[in-house]
Amino acid sequence: MTSFESKYSEYQSAFETVLDKFCGALNCKPSVLADSLKYSLTIGGKRLRPVLMYACGELLEVENKKLANYALALELIHTYSLIHDDLPDMDNDDFRRGKPANHKVFGTGNAILAGDGLLNTAYSILFNECFNGNEHISASKYLCDCAGIDGMIAGQSADLLHENDEIVTEEILNFIYENKTSKLILASTVVPAILKCGKYFSELKAFAINLGCLFQLTDDILDVEGSFEQLGKSTGKDKIEGKYTGIRLYGLDGSKLKADLLTDNCLKILEGIEGNTEFLKDLTYFVRQRIN
Ligand code: IPE
Ligand code: IPE
Ligand code: MG
Ligand code: MG
Ligand code: MG
Repeated sequence: MTSFESKYSEYQSAFETVLDKFCGALNCKPSVLADSLKYSLTIGGKRLRPVLMYACGELLEVENKKLANYALALELIHTYSLIHDDLPDMDNDDFRRGKPANHKVFGTGNAILAGDGLLNTAYSILFNECFNGNEHISASKYLCDCAGIDGMIAGQSADLLHENDEIVTEEILNFIYENKTSKLILASTVVPAILKCGKYFSELKAFAINLGCLFQLTDDILDVEGSFEQLGKSTGKDKIEGKYTGIRLYGLDGSKLKADLLTDNCLKILEGIEGNTEFLKDLTYFVRQRIN
């Protein structure tokens, strides 16, 4: 195991402890609701957003303990976005995290409710954090805005609107990438910065926007080149569904060149941060080279 891999799994297991505790206490009624929430939260996932939040916390000297509920709220929101993303009237995907999608197990109605329930619960967790002081109000609001109508939802809306467009422009592609994907990644980096009086806010914001675009571009590349076994989701769907992807704008080889450019952007931005950014650099390479 490389030092990056062991650090990643250290952050990941710190987060799994928080998530296990949350799932253990989840006994809402009817039981189908609790079951569908737990199902999507526990079938897998890389936990990239919590890991990134903890890593930025370590860089800025914000303790994991202070970030735990933000990481939890963010992963709940991310998981809800995936449940809704897979619905028949959105991307119509049957598999997620290596298992049947939530709606394939519990039905579409329950999957909509599971997503709604995760989002509401995330807000409730964030409201609780607000009792800890003004910086927590700012951090919570920032996270909510990243998830909302000028954030992830805007990206998902544009993603649907532009399905099957004949012409793909960089302006629209960037809007989709920066909102549907970068915004939740932005919450990971900026919440610790806000809790540390805005330290490296602009650098961590710019880093996250570029990393999010890189993450979505590699997701688009993996839809062409990846395998179901590695990704845990169906491949080749973007073309069938007429999705607005980097592949359509740059081609497969062009997308890889663009991914290299985004990688360089991330690394350059990290040079403006004092302190140990090795993990964030390695995370950037990991996202560039990922196979899942
Ligand atoms: C998938 O996100 C959705 C995109 C933004 C491309 P992840 O690839 O982080 O999904 P999990 O959490 O690991 O399942
Ligand atoms: C999804 O992008 C981004 C979300 C906000 C969920 P994709 O639709 O490309 O993600 P996958 O490929 O289904 O994971
Ligand atoms: Mg989608
Ligand atoms: Mg999808
Ligand atoms: Mg995709």
